[in-house]
Amino acid sequence: MEIRGNIMSIIEFRNVTKYYPNYHHIKGGIKWFLFNLPSALSQLKNHRFQVLNNLSFEIKEGEPFGIIGKNGAGKSTMLGLIAGVLKPSSGEVIVKKKVVPLLELGAGFHPDLTGRENIILNGVLLGIRRSEMMLRINSVIEFSELGQFIDQPVRTYSSGMLTRLGFSVAVHTDPEILLIDEILAVGDLYFQQKCKETIKKFSQKGTTIVLVTHSTEDMRDVCKRALWLDSGTAKKIGSPEEISQAYLKYLGFS
Ligand SMILES: Nc1ncnc2c1ncn2[C@@H]1O[C@H](COP(=O)(O)OP(=O)(O)OP(=O)(O)O)[C@@H](O)[C@H]1O
Ligand SMILES: [Mg+2]
Repeated sequence: MEIRGNIMSIIEFRNVTKYYPNYHHIKGGIKWFLFNLPSALSQLKNHRFQVLNNLSFEIKEGEPFGIIGKNGAGKSTMLGLIAGVLKPSSGEVIVKKKVVPLLELGAGFHPDLTGRENIILNGVLLGIRRSEMMLRINSVIEFSELGQFIDQPVRTYSSGMLTRLGFSVAVHTDPEILLIDEILAVGDLYFQQKCKETIKKFSQKGTTIVLVTHSTEDMRDVCKRALWLDSGTAKKIGSPEEISQAYLKYLGFS
């Protein structure tokens, strides 16, 4: 295990490259494809889309870390790799503790189950025993402030309500690393503030936070270090202040 400055790195990207297949029509048809296999395969290979390009950096234990960058830069792909739901095409992603991801809205929720039922389901999916989730459920419900909606199927929820439920479950599952993908933007102002306070409390307790956001203000408010991702490469890593300034300048805002 690598120790730098006495603080252990908890997440490491080592020369990580990620491709997605660029889905396209096989022009000559399947017969042409089979009879011209070598050139057809190289054609397919050339149609891969590179999302992350030889990315190397590390996040230290307990460090609230921000990731910012334009739509399509590869931020959610990075979180998917940390969560282990995606694999790098080459390179290594090393994660040393238990990750609780808040990746996509409603991911892991069953639309026909009620909020209450989904709390148990989601908790179990995140590795907490059912009996333990039963003990925590009232606290989750109270935190979500969803009122009577908690007994409605989640397909009837607004995106903000789904976020409330997802966040409330996540913070009740003892995360060692909390991955947050833009959820602050979806909740109303009141819940955003509550989420931020909760994230800060977790951070003070030593939980490692990885926050993907489009808000330089939230990044400065929550994070101690940040990465600006641009077309799959780390354009800059530094203090949230430095990163905000460089990113806003690049966007032409300052
Ligand atoms: N499953 C997939 N298959 C093919 N391409 C994908 C897939 N997921 C993402 N991509 C592509 O990878 C690129 C990066 O996507 P990603 O979702 O990581 O971006 P992002 O930085 O999170 O953007 P946003 O700010 O819009 O959320 C985009 O061009 C997207 O089209
Ligand atoms: Mg994204």
